[in-house]
Amino acid sequence: MDNRSESEEITERDPLTGRATGGRIGGLEWRLSPEGAISHPDGTAYTSDELRELGNGVDWIGDRSAGDVDPAEIDLGQGVTWLHPEREQLLERLRHDLPVSPQRGIPFLAGTSDWDWWAVTRHADVMEVSRHPELFASGRGGTNIGDIPDEIAEFLGSIINMDAPRHTKIRRLISTGFTPKQVSSLEEAVARRARTIVDAIAEQGTCDVVRDIAAPLPLQVICDMMGIPAEDEQRMFELSNVILGFGDPEYVTTVGDLVSSGMELFQYGLGLAEQRLREPRDDIATALVHAEVDGERLTAAELGSFFVLLVVAGNETTRTAISHGILALSQHPEERAKWLADPVGVGPTAVEEIVRWASPVIHFRRTATADTELGDQRIAEGDRVVMLYLSANRDGTVFSEPDRFNVTRSANDHVAFGAGGPHFCLGANLARREIRVMFDELLTRLPDLTVTGEPDRLRSAFINGIKRMPAAFTPTR
Ligand code: HEM
Repeated sequence: MDNRSESEEITERDPLTGRATGGRIGGLEWRLSPEGAISHPDGTAYTSDELRELGNGVDWIGDRSAGDVDPAEIDLGQGVTWLHPEREQLLERLRHDLPVSPQRGIPFLAGTSDWDWWAVTRHADVMEVSRHPELFASGRGGTNIGDIPDEIAEFLGSIINMDAPRHTKIRRLISTGFTPKQVSSLEEAVARRARTIVDAIAEQGTCDVVRDIAAPLPLQVICDMMGIPAEDEQRMFELSNVILGFGDPEYVTTVGDLVSSGMELFQYGLGLAEQRLREPRDDIATALVHAEVDGERLTAAELGSFFVLLVVAGNETTRTAISHGILALSQHPEERAKWLADPVGVGPTAVEEIVRWASPVIHFRRTATADTELGDQRIAEGDRVVMLYLSANRDGTVFSEPDRFNVTRSANDHVAFGAGGPHFCLGANLARREIRVMFDELLTRLPDLTVTGEPDRLRSAFINGIKRMPAAFTPTR
């Protein structure tokens, strides 16, 4: 399993703007035509609709149901598998019969069929990988399925793509922005933001859940954390969509867009850091630039990269959790009734269940640093090992009735924030707080909020996102 040379690179740039106009990712060579379509070197140009079809990959399942396929056939490298209505059942079959399975290709990315990776589906194996960073590294080729060159990996991913000792050092510095004191200093802003978001729709009687409720809160909270002015919030939103929606033609058609969005965020973070060094304020950005551990500080570039990670990691994840939570409560009115009857008692377990149920981050990858074994599977040094949190969170050996949404679930050892290794989500407590505050607000003011149409799902095997979802409720003030 070695195709490491097939990595992402930019081969052509517009001489005037410096914008990437051609490059390579995995096996796919791309070139931007004047109309914005991607063309292969053979001259075939693809529109974004055609690219969508290509990215869907081979329909290996056809009309069969999950129960009728041989687990060895289950092809997680095809986009169609991730769009399939029985996706959970397919993963269940893998957990049962082929818990660590060989896979090929990056879903939704045409031309990557020579990328090999292992899909890790059981909770215990995800824990094993996550808790042994010396054997399963984050800093070799990055933490998504396709390899990213080291310079880009750190630039776009900051600590998420690093290993000890560098990870330990930078994470310690960054943690100063996530102490309980820092998180609680945001409480009032989170509550105020949630109230204003509900105020804006309360009299309407209908809304789009994602645009009007789930998306604004996490973005605004990150902007509050970093002291970003309101007029820049929309741009942050667009840039994070491009990075996390990669593979969904609605958001991005080229690798160039991806890299230039990352670059713009990085530059913004740099500017912020330099500004706070000159003029300290009472915000977390200031705490971060002035933080010192063992005589070391973050450089402006480290802060710029962390800013990219923060905008990306804190945004779409929490949005996805809130969207799935609203959908789940609509589909399970009895669970909503339990929460309404005892908001204080049920709140904490409900939030945890929403995060398990949503599993906003579908996977993170590690790279084996030595020959080893996982389950009964032999893994070679250099292999890509992909932890499927979404699957681990439905593992029946850990969760009773795993396919039931249960707001009072008490033992809830989910891995949606990671499985306990050194990269465990730094923003977990902030995310829990945001979800809790938003649902307290919704349950009090729009208690009958109900989804009225099919969710429009993000085409991604990385973020379990929802792009749009209509809902209705009794108007109020
Ligand atoms: C429901 C919402 C969220 C989910 C499901 C989530 C999930 C995750 C996951 C799975 C990881 C990787 C864990 C690992 O590799 O072991 C992670 C890392 C991270 N998350 Fe979150 N996250 C959420 C919200 C947030 C928020 C609100 C922030 C910040 C404002 C944030 C900041 C981070 C950072 C900085 C890391 C990197 C930690 C490291 O590499 O050491 N996350 N998150």
